[in-house]
Amino acid sequence: MESSHSSCSINADKSSCCSSESKPEIKDLKSHWNKAYSNNPENKLGWFETDLSPMFQLISKSTLQKNASIINIGAGSTTLVDELISQDFTNIIATDISDVALQNLSNRVNTTHLKTIVDDLTNPSELSKIEKVDAWIDRAVLHFFTEEKDQETYFNLLKEKVNLNGFVILAQFNLQGATKCSGLTVKRYNAEMFQEKLGTDFKLIESFDYTYSMPSGDEREYVYSLFQKTT
Ligand SMILES: C[S@@+](CC[C@H](N)C(=O)[O-])C[C@H]1O[C@@H](n2cnc3c(N)ncnc32)[C@H](O)[C@@H]1O
Repeated sequence: MESSHSSCSINADKSSCCSSESKPEIKDLKSHWNKAYSNNPENKLGWFETDLSPMFQLISKSTLQKNASIINIGAGSTTLVDELISQDFTNIIATDISDVALQNLSNRVNTTHLKTIVDDLTNPSELSKIEKVDAWIDRAVLHFFTEEKDQETYFNLLKEKVNLNGFVILAQFNLQGATKCSGLTVKRYNAEMFQEKLGTDFKLIESFDYTYSMPSGDEREYVYSLFQKTT
């Protein structure tokens, strides 16, 4: 894979986050993501962020206790974990299909309050064994699941693993967003679409659109939504 495929920061066009539309879809997803994390400095990845304010706007609204169990879905090597640790959250799980990403993350942060789980959300094994969590946070992962069966697997796991009164934060490309990222086609969302997938047990607390600036300077349109499991 060329580096332009693994980083959203290079060769991005209007509709595609990272690669030209004519490229064939990538099949071996674990090695695809591992190459992205191996071949690029973290701060050049097309989803790298230093401004976590939209995510923390929703985290603060959720009024999570510092010992709340928080799972970061498809965490990669995100700076969100650094920030959660610096804000004294003590029960964090970071999960991803890429062991390289999670190793990079573990090398960077204090792992005292962090557990990492390498697993595939479309075929969960270790994740199906975890205890329920108080918060499920996913930025830019769900939108890669374009097949109904993968979405169903994802939402079944979420519904099984989020505690009553627990929170779900979903931040994905919105309906005006790019149609591809990292060489992969994405499904774009709005809050109503999240609600439909989550069902009536989850209540929408807040939602907004957010324009993210990639390290390349290009912009990507996201929708950020916070839900609470109320029944
Ligand atoms: C665009 S990156 C976002 C990473 C991180 N959430 C962030 O905001 O920086 C997408 C992440 O989803 C992970 N991922 C993709 N498909 C996955 C799957 N089937 N199971 C688990 N993780 C997956 C990738 O390895 C990658 O780290």
